[in-house]
Amino acid sequence: MSRQKIVAGNWKMNTTLSEALFLVDGILSKMNTTNEVTKIIIPPFPYLISISNKIGETEHISLGAQNCHTDESGAFTGEISASMLASVGCSYVLVGHSERRCYFNETNEELIKKIKSALDNNLKPIFCIGETLEQRQYHTHFTVISHQLSEVLKSFTDAEFSNIVIAYEPVWAIGTGETATSNQAQEMHAFIRKEIAQLYSQSIAQETTILYGGSCNAQNAQELFSCEDVDGGLIGGASLKADDFCKIAASF
Ligand code: 13P
Repeated sequence: MSRQKIVAGNWKMNTTLSEALFLVDGILSKMNTTNEVTKIIIPPFPYLISISNKIGETEHISLGAQNCHTDESGAFTGEISASMLASVGCSYVLVGHSERRCYFNETNEELIKKIKSALDNNLKPIFCIGETLEQRQYHTHFTVISHQLSEVLKSFTDAEFSNIVIAYEPVWAIGTGETATSNQAQEMHAFIRKEIAQLYSQSIAQETTILYGGSCNAQNAQELFSCEDVDGGLIGGASLKADDFCKIAASF
């Protein structure tokens, strides 16, 4: 079964405009664009148009955003809608990153609306899930992940779900330098696939791209991506260096 392989770079709240453009130039000059891995650049909002213009029609490289609002338009000062993102060339949007759940109190109800709005605007949501260190230490991580999946994904049809990418990002591994072992990643990815099979079907689960995120870097990507159920990565810190991001994207 060949699933879509993806390596996505979530730049978070980093880079100035000139640094962002320099980074994209580096990625475009070093990236292997002949392989079938989809590379997604996910910069801060203000740089989306400029980066979209630079990427142009480059094969296998796409643009994504780090968040979107639940509504299409209206009096929501400071917010950005999925239709705006689509209009500047985005094809993907992160939904439910743990930093947004934690610092901005995003609820499952909001995440459902964000995914709906993204899908309505032909954006593919990258739906992020992951347990905290405490939850893992108390051995509740499988229950937590099961709830994170079922509470949100119950709202979508099979056809809608086929456009959703899942990213498993254990909170304890994000930005800490402590990566999940390949055994831990494979164990959880297989569990996620099993849960998706229950929510949808076995064949849909087999086609779902499930990314790993959390201190994934140029040194450990190959081992992680060699796991049967790991279809690529959502990369934070290491995506801010063109060399490292390109190496990770070549780690299959
Ligand atoms: P790091 O790769 O910096 O741990 O961040 C992972 C992440 O949160 C990507 O969304």
